Amino acid sequence: GFEIQIASTGKIYAVAANETIVTALGKHGIAIATSCEQGICGTCLTTVVDGIPDHRDQFLTEQERCANNQVIACCSRAKSKLLVLDL
Ligand code: FES
Repeated sequence: GFEIQIASTGKIYAVAANETIVTALGKHGIAIATSCEQGICGTCLTTVVDGIPDHRDQFLTEQERCANNQVIACCSRAKSKLLVLDL
């Protein structure tokens, strides 16, 4: 697992191995809009402020993946222990 920090509040939430960023934050009332929930449509695209995403989507280009500043929150995870999102 890893943790998500919400940039606007500073609050940190754990993401367990069996849940996505979207479901983990949803449990705490933080909603990220989704559509396909399969990493294809890009609806859940979220800006990364700090940390390194573990990209599991099919939406971002190779260049966008390497920039480490956006994450597809319905399926991607984190390589770093903490991922700070611009929420
Ligand atoms: Fe479609 Fe995340 S909801 S890519």
